Amino acid sequence: MQSIKKKGKVVIVGGGNAAHVFVARCGHLGIACDWLATFTGEARRLKAAIGNDGGIAAINTLTGQTWFGRPERISDNPAEILPGAALIIMTMPIFAQEPTLKIIAPYIEEGACLGAIPGGAAFDALIYETLGMSKAKQCDIFGTRTLPWACRITEYGKAVSILGTKENDQIVVNSSTRSFVINQVQRIVGHDLKYMPADNFLFLSFTMPWHPCFMYGMFSDWDGITPFKEQPAFYTSVSQTTANLISDASDEIIQLRNEIMKLFPAINLSEVTHAKDWMKSAYAASIKGTDLDDLHSMIAKNPAYRDLLFPMKAAQGGYVPDYTSRYLTEDIPCVFLVYKGLAEMVGFQIPIIEMIIEWSQRVMGKEYIVNHRLLGRDLKESRAPQRFGFEDFVAFAKIMGYI
Ligand code: NAI
Repeated sequence: MQSIKKKGKVVIVGGGNAAHVFVARCGHLGIACDWLATFTGEARRLKAAIGNDGGIAAINTLTGQTWFGRPERISDNPAEILPGAALIIMTMPIFAQEPTLKIIAPYIEEGACLGAIPGGAAFDALIYETLGMSKAKQCDIFGTRTLPWACRITEYGKAVSILGTKENDQIVVNSSTRSFVINQVQRIVGHDLKYMPADNFLFLSFTMPWHPCFMYGMFSDWDGITPFKEQPAFYTSVSQTTANLISDASDEIIQLRNEIMKLFPAINLSEVTHAKDWMKSAYAASIKGTDLDDLHSMIAKNPAYRDLLFPMKAAQGGYVPDYTSRYLTEDIPCVFLVYKGLAEMVGFQIPIIEMIIEWSQRVMGKEYIVNHRLLGRDLKESRAPQRFGFEDFVAFAKIMGYI
């Protein structure tokens, strides 16, 4: 792998909540950045919103601090933006990475530093598939486990609220210049969050079993007819049953991790943590004073989680669940099916995660699992290893460089 270019611009790719924050961060730090938004019509709308003298203000709702940034260029044309870029940060839902990479991959130069925040499961496999193995091996590739902030656009192309900042996160870098890459990313994100390196890209498959548990907990007993009077709070109204479900799903993931490490001692997944430990670590200061053995109160009382509501659609007489929300459309194919795929490969059972997939695919109108196997027609949307053509764990791990 070549080392990262030391000069050149930062390019932010994506146009959602997180991209708004990154543009503001770059401006705040005096780092020149271009904004590449390839999703239909987005660059045009962003240009119109920013105008001749506007920019993005990221306002921290807890501290009142504001970062402000104006990108040098906004474009949907990777041929115009990508040549010479020093650092390309993709920040978007995991399911949006593939269509975006298909558009931008031809313009990514050998030696580029390219990563995703968050990275998501099999980000490395996707890079190999879209860039081609030979070009990909010449690039520095990185991915983080999650996004540093809980954030929501308040005015498109103008303002975004930061509702909370995680205190730490893991980053994986596929490069001989790992610490340089980490320092670059750390500088842009800021030091309120500390990046800790994880060993290999398989780690990114072990994302927290999170949003679908909340969706299942709130809606699995709903009669499908009677509207809710109001949109319940996503986190702060969490029930004890849902907290237990998250904990049980997390237990399964830790057991799956242990099984993989037992079968393949060369694969280090020691950074994979249980939801309880992750909460303690990522939100240590925010949840100080709550019972750190009680996942339910760590979620319900976390100030970073205030103000976030269940995704619902207005209906006659109230609200009904919105099953097209990324809480399902992203987390089921890109998190839960990945667990199912890995479990299938190593012959391990994860019944709780499977139960949540079964319910989710029903309400989403998708087919991923058939007769307990990943054989459904919509599997191609997922990030399970099987979607990349891998059935055998050893072959998968060798090609991806995990063993
Ligand atoms: P978002 O929902 O705001 O992203 C929307 C953007 O994604 C669109 O504006 C567009 O640029 C792109 N996009 C969507 N569909 C696309 C498609 N089919 N093709 C190409 N581009 C498409 O996402 P957000 O909030 O910025 O989050 C980014 C990632 O961070 C997600 O994976 C999310 O789960 C994760 N995350 C977000 C948090 C938050 O508070 N916003 C908190 C923790 C994690």
